[in-house]
Amino acid sequence: MSNNGESITVAIVGGTGKEGRGLAYRWLRAGYAVIIGSRTVERAGVAADELRGLVHGTPDVRGTTNVEAAQASHVTVMTVPYGAHEEILKSLKPVMQGRLLIDATVPLQPGKVTRMKMPRAGSAAQEAHEILGAATEVAAAFHTISHEHLMKDEPIECDVLVTGTSAVARQETLRLVEAAGLQGWDAGPLENSAVSEGLTSVLIHINKKYGSRQAGIRITGTSAD
Ligand SMILES: NC(=O)c1ccc[n+]([C@@H]2O[C@H](COP(=O)([O-])OP(=O)(O)OC[C@H]3O[C@@H](n4cnc5c(N)ncnc54)[C@H](OP(=O)(O)O)[C@@H]3O)[C@@H](O)[C@H]2O)c1
Repeated sequence: MSNNGESITVAIVGGTGKEGRGLAYRWLRAGYAVIIGSRTVERAGVAADELRGLVHGTPDVRGTTNVEAAQASHVTVMTVPYGAHEEILKSLKPVMQGRLLIDATVPLQPGKVTRMKMPRAGSAAQEAHEILGAATEVAAAFHTISHEHLMKDEPIECDVLVTGTSAVARQETLRLVEAAGLQGWDAGPLENSAVSEGLTSVLIHINKKYGSRQAGIRITGTSAD
């Protein structure tokens, strides 16, 4: 994929995990270059090698540290457990100035994942913006998409709510949502990310209650649905 003729590279911080790997798979299939970020170069390399084996053709994927991945990319996607969110963001701050972070992190409480609890900042994504500062655009997306969908080649019948610090940040994120084969919606300012992050606890509860694994949401009643 290209941006004014330049190939777009997406960094995935925590890309060795379930959600990050699934998103990487989808973007590699769509022709994007992907850099898998990890706390260790070795784990990143293993995940990159696995993805290379799964995608047809010659996918452009490699692995490195989280900071180096963010530094070498046009856009950085964050998929880490909430417990690691603050520390990793602080390490990314110097390289994220003037760039876009797309945060998929959900502030789940270990042992109480069906009970929504937002951080003091309002949401994990708002906390990310507080830590990174005003010179970094932050968008929030993918909270309602189970990783189990992402590694399959079938269409995903779940929508993605995209919030962000500017219309441009939301638009860039929506392009990646579409490239992943998903229907995205501009859901407004970053403050609204509390709703999409909170939906994860609702969906986990529904999965437990009804014996499902991949509950999602769909927006209806618009001309685009
Ligand atoms: N799984 C889903 O279906 C799903 C759906 C929507 C949103 N999310 C959200 O996306 C984020 C990632 O979820 P996930 O299921 O992909 O998580 P995961 O597989 O448990 O972890 C993702 C990666 O985070 C990195 N990490 C950094 N610090 C860590 C720490 N202190 N403890 C454990 N891992 C750490 C690890 O990479 P290294 O060890 O290589 O550094 C790990 O591979 C979460 O905030 C989750 O709520 C997940």
